[in-house]
Amino acid sequence: MRNLSAFILLLFVFGCSPEKETYPVLKEAVSGLYDPALAPFYHGVASGDPLPDRVIIWTRVTPIDSVPRIAVAWEVATDKEFSSIVKSDTLSTTPARDYTVKVDVTGLAADTYYFYRFKALNATSPTGRTKTTPTGSRDSLMFAVVSCSNWEFGYFNAYASIADKHVDAVLHLGDYIYEYGTGRYGDTTIGRFNLPPYEIVSLQDYRTRHSLYRLDAGLRAMSAAHPLIAIWDDHEVANNTYKSGAQNHQPDKEGDFFARRDAAKKAYYEWIPIRESDKHYRSFSFGQLAQLIMLDERLEGRDEPPATPEEAQQQRSMLGEEQLQWLFENLKSQAQWKVIGNQVIFSDVDLRAVYPKSPRNLDSWDGYLSEKGQIKKFILENKIKDMVFVTGDTHAAWGIEVATDVAKTYNPKTSAGAFAVEFGATSVTSANDNEYRSTDSVKMMEKVLLTNNPHIKYLNDRDHGYLLLTLKPDKAIAKYYFMETLRQPDKRERLEKTLEVKRGEYKLNQK
Ligand SMILES: [Fe+2]
Repeated sequence: MRNLSAFILLLFVFGCSPEKETYPVLKEAVSGLYDPALAPFYHGVASGDPLPDRVIIWTRVTPIDSVPRIAVAWEVATDKEFSSIVKSDTLSTTPARDYTVKVDVTGLAADTYYFYRFKALNATSPTGRTKTTPTGSRDSLMFAVVSCSNWEFGYFNAYASIADKHVDAVLHLGDYIYEYGTGRYGDTTIGRFNLPPYEIVSLQDYRTRHSLYRLDAGLRAMSAAHPLIAIWDDHEVANNTYKSGAQNHQPDKEGDFFARRDAAKKAYYEWIPIRESDKHYRSFSFGQLAQLIMLDERLEGRDEPPATPEEAQQQRSMLGEEQLQWLFENLKSQAQWKVIGNQVIFSDVDLRAVYPKSPRNLDSWDGYLSEKGQIKKFILENKIKDMVFVTGDTHAAWGIEVATDVAKTYNPKTSAGAFAVEFGATSVTSANDNEYRSTDSVKMMEKVLLTNNPHIKYLNDRDHGYLLLTLKPDKAIAKYYFMETLRQPDKRERLEKTLEVKRGEYKLNQK
């Protein structure tokens, strides 16, 4: 009795401690691939969408148990030892955002390197490095340009190589993930298998797929080294997506398209280190030297692609009216180079000689001729110069003089009749044509295409890698790097091609 009184007194004095809450162990489909040395920051760190005074920093904290909330501290410094911390704070992450962490760090200085890290669950993350954009003049800018990174087709060796380069930002033009089930689109002999193993549809499916991709060491290295400026293409949702459906979406099997799209978008914004807003298209000023214009050619305003080349003549929108007007405003920028982050190829490409049944790629701008014509007209009427399209989607490397009318007004010797250049980045891993037929036959197809399209100056449909785009006051330079292998982590690469265009000209000079 005396003991019980003492116990009640103690409770009164010290408060009644609640029972320790218990939570189920967090079961993650990809946990077998985690590197225990990185716990709980298995997915590394990343940054993106740099502006002169701010940049997004990102990580993911993976707890052992499914806790409702995790406190995360972050620090940004001007040195990698963190002796000069310029910004820091604490926030929390929750299962509602899949334990990802995203901070828009403001109040930074322009054109400056910063280092950042996170602390949570008694551990410190790897250190990331990022860079804000310039406001004044620069002697040069360099971007790594990538697209089409498919887990099952191989290791992201291009990303690993880019981590070692000195670039201002990495431009990802889409197909950052693919939606397919295992073995459906890939080379499983490499030993990389999709998780979940089926076609992704739900929010949890998309989260798991993003989580899987970010366990690639090359992707982690690139993310920690440079800010990312990403735009989605179709496979972030499903193949050949347009604003109200997709070729690879069957409502009877996969349910409502808009529910799937919203799940894909939520997971994308949770896992990709970019700024969240209701518009995915956005532009970035790099001072007097460049304006970067990232277009959304899928979810914003794209009508369903035409079924035939005849239908491609009809009024049909790729961007939607609002984005089109926004593009026109951005093209009036006083910056010297206007760089368009473009998903599908803008130039006219005549495929008749190699694909008689598909003379044009109707999922590209060749299926949206009226809107393409409006853009050409605006550029010519407003005498907009020094435009560079950088393009993904095709899994091939291209160098093209963008012509107003290839057959009627373009002169392949002088480049008269061209009004811009287009550099296509090959895939990080997704199949070229020589994954499906012999390399010799692909080389022959390339030759035939070049002969039938005199404005296309360079084409490689056999290699994987990335593009380095350097902008200088007097010229733009595209360097095409290809990886030796995708079958194991390996950074060996070769520089296959260099193309240059001088300021005020449209002629691609081959080096
Ligand atoms: Fe792709």
